[in-house]
Amino acid sequence: MPKLDGKTAVITGGTAGMALTTAKLFAEEGARVIITGRRKEKLDEAVAEIGHDATGVQGDVSNLEDLDRLVDAVTAHSGRVDVLFASAGAHTLNEPLGAATEKSFDDVFDVNVRGTFFTVQKLLPLLTDGASIILNGSAAAVLGNPASTVYAASKAALRSFARTWTTDLKERHIRVNVLSPGAIRTPSFEALPPEFISHALAEVPVGRAGTEADIATTALFLASADSSYITGAELPVDGGLTQV
Ligand SMILES: NC(=O)c1ccc[n+]([C@@H]2O[C@H](COP(=O)([O-])OP(=O)(O)OC[C@H]3O[C@@H](n4cnc5c(N)ncnc54)[C@H](OP(=O)(O)O)[C@@H]3O)[C@@H](O)[C@H]2O)c1
Repeated sequence: MPKLDGKTAVITGGTAGMALTTAKLFAEEGARVIITGRRKEKLDEAVAEIGHDATGVQGDVSNLEDLDRLVDAVTAHSGRVDVLFASAGAHTLNEPLGAATEKSFDDVFDVNVRGTFFTVQKLLPLLTDGASIILNGSAAAVLGNPASTVYAASKAALRSFARTWTTDLKERHIRVNVLSPGAIRTPSFEALPPEFISHALAEVPVGRAGTEADIATTALFLASADSSYITGAELPVDGGLTQV
């Protein structure tokens, strides 16, 4: 029996990387998948790649009007959300405290914090009782990695959201969890400077980078009834990086 049979899953930033691989797995497991992304061409490619009658809604999660259009599209599509994977994220590289700018701070917080907050708030009326919300965090939130101050703090905010939203949504039995990836080989990770990648991988206990499939299978676990007694939690998918 497919694990997400008859469910509607919304995945933000689902046009590439781990969220696209997750969208494919969710669709194979019976979900009707709706993905978002800013670039229309990339969105159309991803929708075709997912197949299974997937839908794409163009938009930036940091733009509230785009989020309103997402709500309208989901209302017209199925009128419900059983699984919400809020994955769209932004990062800055090599910006220690003294180098971060007002713009880089706002850009990262607008997408990661404000964008995630309003994605969930605006879709709240469409979330079914018993729905699963998964926030895409980061191992960086609990590490003191150099030059990562703004990004790390923005992802730490998601950990807090999961706790308070679990309480706020308790009556509706909506579960909220954070999936926190470590170093995962996605196109944007591969584009990082080689020295950054080797530094990121040096301390990973399992001795390798994570794969997009490592994230997708964990997201499926958090989305499905297999995790029905897990809420308000953070699940690190980082090869042990933050656990030893
Ligand atoms: N890769 C890693 O090692 C790693 C580690 C820890 C955490 N993460 C987190 O995991 C998530 C996914 O990362 P990733 O490396 O797989 O993919 P990614 O390359 O960061 O992004 C995947 C897709 O998201 C879309 N996107 C970006 N900003 C968006 C926005 N503001 N609104 C809507 N869509 C947006 C992009 O399409 P458009 O440009 O067309 O919008 C892109 O195709 C992020 O939240 C990231 O912070 C990644």
